[in-house]
Parts: sequence; structure tokens; C-alpha cells
Amino acid sequence: MSADSVWRTPVPVVQAPMAGGASGPALAAAVSRAGGLGFLAAGYKTAEAMGAEVRELRELVGDRPFGVNLFVPGASDPGVVDRELPVYRARLASEAERLGAELGDVPPYGVSDDWHAKTALLLAEPVPVVSFTFGCPPVELVDAFRAAGTATVVTVTTAREAELAAGVRPDVLVVQGAEAGAHQGRWDNASDEPYGLLTLLALVRAVTDLPLIAAGGLMTGRQIAAVLAAGGSAAQLGTAFLRCPECAAPAPYKAALADPCFTATRLTRAFSGRPARGLVNRFLTEHDAYAPAAYPEVHYATAPVRRAAAAAGDPEAMALWAGQGWRLAREEPAADVLARLAAELREVFGPWRTPAEPPGPAPAGILPDLRRLPGADDLPGGRATP
Ligand SMILES: Cc1cc2nc3c(=O)[nH]c(=O)nc-3n(C[C@H](O)[C@H](O)[C@H](O)COP(=O)(O)O)c2cc1C
Repeated sequence: MSADSVWRTPVPVVQAPMAGGASGPALAAAVSRAGGLGFLAAGYKTAEAMGAEVRELRELVGDRPFGVNLFVPGASDPGVVDRELPVYRARLASEAERLGAELGDVPPYGVSDDWHAKTALLLAEPVPVVSFTFGCPPVELVDAFRAAGTATVVTVTTAREAELAAGVRPDVLVVQGAEAGAHQGRWDNASDEPYGLLTLLALVRAVTDLPLIAAGGLMTGRQIAAVLAAGGSAAQLGTAFLRCPECAAPAPYKAALADPCFTATRLTRAFSGRPARGLVNRFLTEHDAYAPAAYPEVHYATAPVRRAAAAAGDPEAMALWAGQGWRLAREEPAADVLARLAAELREVFGPWRTPAEPPGPAPAGILPDLRRLPGADDLPGGRATP
């Protein structure tokens, strides 16, 4: 992996996979076609539904690279499920009643998130990149993806997770800081205070040489320049794409992101049973204090309530996932987001983007890997010199 390579590609930006509907084929295709790396979120879907989205994306994206994100299944503490979950459900009953909904149950595929069927499908019909969150895939699976020609990415939130992840030899790590929107990808479902991104990047860089994709609160090219200087090879942005027309998030959610009445984000288990960052609204404020660490049980319990709230245009009972930089999210096409980030990056690193060799040491890049992926040759910015 050559040191300067990141600067030979258009934009070192990965569009975060966003489960729950926000990042479907339209957004992923728009990002990949504009020179970033688009991602599908397979979480909460059946393998069949994931397969249908992959087929749709392949049509839209042509020969450009893209990724698919999987949830690594874990198990809730049975004691929490037996004792605390029923109490929480009882407390949520009035929320459901108010919206004419019923609390939900975990569907048959929900505990494993259809893991075996999804991994089998992605091995049978390989995609360019597969990323994992909420845990570490087994080394045999990482090896099988490598043999199938698929690059693998593991999400980490601590240096310890990074050390363990490096042991299964993925191609890249996503380093997710506390600033990030939605769920913390930490492998257990503990309540430890998450690390800020810059601190975490330094801690992870100290334990592994793997290329790192930085995630959490990144909204501008200058911030991306900062994480590249801090040892990252690229940046993964979620919230920055939430207001794009290609993003399929519900309208009241998009409106809330632009509404000055929402003034803060916070980590909470109230919606899903796992710590996740969202805009502070009534539901979060009322239920955060006693939400149990039961995931995905709480996610499926509250899903019908959140859906009914979205249908009723009531953002106060929805999960308004947002990173700490949400105020900077703009309503503009994904290609414009990428063009703006690229222009801001050029303001910082302009000389490095000339065809000549860069003037000094530059961060290691994931992008040689991306350029080896099918269709990457004709990305604006061209093929790297071998
Ligand atoms: C609405 C939403 C849904 C998300 N869903 C996923 C997911 O399914 N898988 C995943 O690995 N990360 C998911 N994330 C986290 C992102 O990968 C990333 O860490 C985060 O968006 C970075 O912070 P930012 O939102 O401030 O850019 C999600 C983020 C958001 C905002």
C-alpha cells in the first residue's frame, strides 16, 4: 500500500452504512458514482431483502465499487431480558397506545440478523467490500471473503477491539469515535464512555498498522484532513448524507435535522437497547434513564412505535439518529456533498493532488485497494501508478 495513494483518488470518503432505511441503493450509487465509496446497510433485513438491494445497486452503480455492511450477532444477558425488558415494555405501553401501535417482538431472523444466510449469499455472489459492526467476524469468514475477492472492514471503538480485530487480518478497520451518529459499534453492549475520534485514532494507530477509516462527527473537508493527518486513510460519514435527496430517511427525521428546536444529541439505549446517538427529543428524555441493555429486543419492541410516529409526522417519538456535527448537514445531492468535501480538502492538501509525487509524507491509503476493485479504474482521479 503506497503512502501517497490516498491523494490520487477523487475523495477519500466512505458513505456510512445506515440501517433503518437511510442508506439504500440510491444513496450508495450516488456516492460511488461521484467517486466515494457507497454502502448498503444490511442490518435488520433478511438475507433475501439484502440480496434484492444488492441487485438493485449493481444496476445503478455500473462497474463502480461499493460495500455491504453486516451486524455481527451477539446475545443479550438473559437476566436483563427476563427481568428488565418486561418492565420497560410496560412503561412503553402508553407510547404505543397513543400512536395506535403495538410493541413489537424480535422476528425469527432477528437475533442472528440472518447472519448465516447473509454471509452465504455474499460469498456466493461477491461484492467489492463487506464491513462488520457490533463484533468481530471469525477469521475463517474473513479468509473466505478474501478468497472470493471481497475486501473486509471491521468496526472498532477501542484499542483492545482493534488489536483483536487485527488478529483476523481484515483489510481495513473503521475507527468509530464517540461523536458518531446512531449506534456505537462496540462489540459488547457495555456502558463505558466512548473515546473521542482523534484520541481513539492515536490509540488504535499505536497497536496496528492496518489502514484506518475514521468515523464520527466528520462534516467538512478540513475535519477529514485532520483525521488523515492523525493516521487515518479515509473518512466515513453518515450524518452528512442524511439530508440528501437520495437518502431514504423519513421526511420528519430529515426535517428535525434542520429544525432549530432540536439543540443537542445524546447517547441513549431508549430506542434499541444499545448506546446510540440521536437528537434529544421527548421519547429519549422520558425513557433513557431506565432503558435496559437488551439488544435487539428493545429495537424490535419500539420499531412499530417509531414507524407510527414517522407516519404521524411526530419527531418526538422517533429515533432521530445524528452525529455531533448534525447542524452542518445540508440538503443537497450526494454528489454535491462529495464535491464540496473534495474542494475543502484541496484547500488543505492542494499540492498533493497534482499528478506529481506528493511533496512530503502522506497518510497511508485504503484507496489502492479500492482502485483494485472492479470498475475503480475510471473513477475521476484515475488509476494509481503501481
Ligand atoms: C442513521 C444512521 C444509521 C447507522 N447505521 C449503521 C449501520 O447499519 N452499520 C454501521 O456500521 N454503522 C451505522 N451507523 C454509524 C456509521 O457507520 C458511522 O459510524 C457514523 O455515521 C459516523 O458518524 P457521523 O454520523 O457523525 O458521520 C449509522 C449512522 C447513522 C447516522
